[in-house]
Order: sequence, then C-alpha cells, then structure tokens
Amino acid sequence: MSSNDNIVIDDNYDGYRLELFCIPKHYEEDLENILIPSGLITDRIERLARDITQEFNDEGLVALCVLKGGYKFFTDLLDRIKMLNRNTEKSIPLAVDFIRLKSYVDDKQSGKIEVIGGDNLENLKGKNVLIVEDIIDTGRTMMKLLDILKSVKPKTVRVASLLVKRTERSIGYKPDYAGFEIPDLFVVGYALDYNEYFRDLNHICVINEHGKKKYSS
Ligand code: HPA
Ligand code: MG
Repeated sequence: MSSNDNIVIDDNYDGYRLELFCIPKHYEEDLENILIPSGLITDRIERLARDITQEFNDEGLVALCVLKGGYKFFTDLLDRIKMLNRNTEKSIPLAVDFIRLKSYVDDKQSGKIEVIGGDNLENLKGKNVLIVEDIIDTGRTMMKLLDILKSVKPKTVRVASLLVKRTERSIGYKPDYAGFEIPDLFVVGYALDYNEYFRDLNHICVINEHGKKKYSS
C-alpha cells in the first residue's frame, strides 16, 4: 500500500535565513529563504526509500526519472533503496530509465507536455514502474504523463514526488509517495530550476524578485 503521508510546510513558515547555511555566492542575492535544507531532504528520502521497499517485491521495478528536475531525488532515492537491498533480507531488483518532459516557461505552465528522450516506452510493458519526479504543481503534467504511460500497459505505476505544491490551481492529483507538501511559492535548488538556473544549489529555496528578474528568459 502506498502512503500519502508527508511533511507539511505551513503557508506562514519563513524557512531559514541564508546566513545560517552555506549557499553559492552567485545566488546570495537571488533567494528569499531556505525552505528545506539538504540534510532534511536526505533524511526524508531515507524514509521514502523504506516505504517504497516495503511495497515492492522481488519482481523489481523500473525507476523512471523525470529529467532534469528529478535527477537529484532520483539518484538519492535509488542510492537509499540500493543500500536497503544490500543490508536487509528483502531485495528489489532495479532498472532505470530517463525521460524529459517539456512544460514550463518561466514560472507559468504552458499547458502541454512533450516526452523527449529515454528508451522506447514500449519497454515498460508489463513492468512495475516507479515515476520519480521533483514536484507536483497543478498535477496536470503528471496526469498527462500517466496517460501516456498507460498506453504501453505497464503492470503497475506508482509516483514518487519529492515535493507537492499546495495550490488552488491543483487538479487534485496526489502522488503515491511524497516528501514534502509546500506552500504555493516558486522553489529552486536540489535540481529544481528557474530557466535552467539554480540546479547547482543543494538546498530547496524560495526565489526572490531579484532572482526572477536576473534569470528571466
Ligand atoms: N520550482 C521549479 N519548478 C517547478 C515549480 C517550482 O516551484 N513548480 C513547477 N515546476
Ligand atoms: Mg519536474
């Protein structure tokens, strides 16, 4: 059974001041606060790995990374599952694949998605698929991806998203596994970007107006 349980970050939570942690100098003026320090991300992922390991069995799974934003979560999550595989009685064979979806320009959603790259999706037929995504915002992108995947008839499909945004634009989609529920703010870091910037920031931070202006496309 999947768990929808997650860590809820409140709307009036101010995060941590930048001065309290280490961030690259080139982003010092572009961030409002640190919403989720990387250590907390790591600890939460450890638990998600355990939850996922409990659900799957020796049939194994194909972990499908949604690039580019999902790459950090994907590697850290799989590292944890692999650690459990090495150290517990139960072990889950893992295969990996990578896809890219294009759907965002600036911080607005353009309305449609396109799957680019990755192996032939037909390879997922009959497999237990775990989609690994960085963030569920409105949920539209994920619903469209699930629709596309359904057509190749996987045995099961589960979704793990590190973040879920609490927004009134949501269509109500909830992933099977979620790390954190966050307020309706634009966040960057830990591979999440703003126009390709900020992926090289390890904490999840809220971008400020200065940053949006500086890195606008
Ligand atoms: N940050 C980065 N990418 C995103 C976000 C966000 O807040 N929401 C949807 N895609
Ligand atoms: Mg994404």
